[in-house]
Amino acid sequence: MNAPVAFNKKSELAAPTPPDLSITVRDERFNRATTPRRWWAGEPFGTAWHNALSATFPRGEAFFIEAVKAHRDGADPKLAAEIRAFVRQEINHTREHVAFNRLAEDAGYDIKAIDKRVEEMLALTKDRPAIANLAVTMALEHYTAMMAAEFLANPKHFENSDPEVRAMWRWHAAEEIEHKGVAYDTWNHATRDWSAWKRWKIRSIVMLTVTARFFKNRWIDSLNLLAQDGITGWRARWGLFKYLTVSPGVVRRIFPAWLAYFKPGFHPWDHDDRALIQLYESEFEDALMPAE
Ligand SMILES: [Fe+2]
Ligand SMILES: [Fe+2]
Repeated sequence: MNAPVAFNKKSELAAPTPPDLSITVRDERFNRATTPRRWWAGEPFGTAWHNALSATFPRGEAFFIEAVKAHRDGADPKLAAEIRAFVRQEINHTREHVAFNRLAEDAGYDIKAIDKRVEEMLALTKDRPAIANLAVTMALEHYTAMMAAEFLANPKHFENSDPEVRAMWRWHAAEEIEHKGVAYDTWNHATRDWSAWKRWKIRSIVMLTVTARFFKNRWIDSLNLLAQDGITGWRARWGLFKYLTVSPGVVRRIFPAWLAYFKPGFHPWDHDDRALIQLYESEFEDALMPAE
């Protein structure tokens, strides 16, 4: 198929990461004691969704790191430094989600089946071209960045949640926004000899595939955790659906940002949301200050 005229040579390489972006590794620790079983506002659906997400992070983030590192040769010094910071941030995220997952297990949830499926799925990636893994990483990093922006912009997402668990998700969210362009810029670097059309076509197809798989698997995983709470059948499905699409409705809210990914020439930093990181940092400092 020929490329439409909208794709000029540079159209997929436009709108780069802000030149003054600095990626800060915040080496924080959370969740080393206990957590309430239903830490998300005392209700099961938000708890199940986030527990299901968290269960995939240790293996998922290790996969992201390897996919990006496999394409760093020849990167300019700025991108090389950003890749190093990205790796350190993701390693810390993994450590904190391992700690959180342990608490979820202590609270009585069995998350081993989720981890096992992620392991089996990642085993299938071993035989495919490394660039495919980077395209998957780039799509999933867009997911984390979209959800991160929502979590920081809209207090409803963690309203009445356990403060320690909430702090972890907000910390993770701030760093996901900060490094949201790294996998993308690495992809642009790795595919610099491709046409804009080919680059757009592959990343769009991969995003559609990743989206179908992401929702199918997180849905199954969340229902599995809800069943462990004795919530099954239509009650479980409707409750989860309402949580995701009505209130707080994270899936509905990220839809425009998801759609933007398909725009020719899209770049994660087309939308500069560093103000959310500043907001997170000022709230984090306030939380550490003694009350007057
Ligand atoms: Fe992360
Ligand atoms: Fe990330």
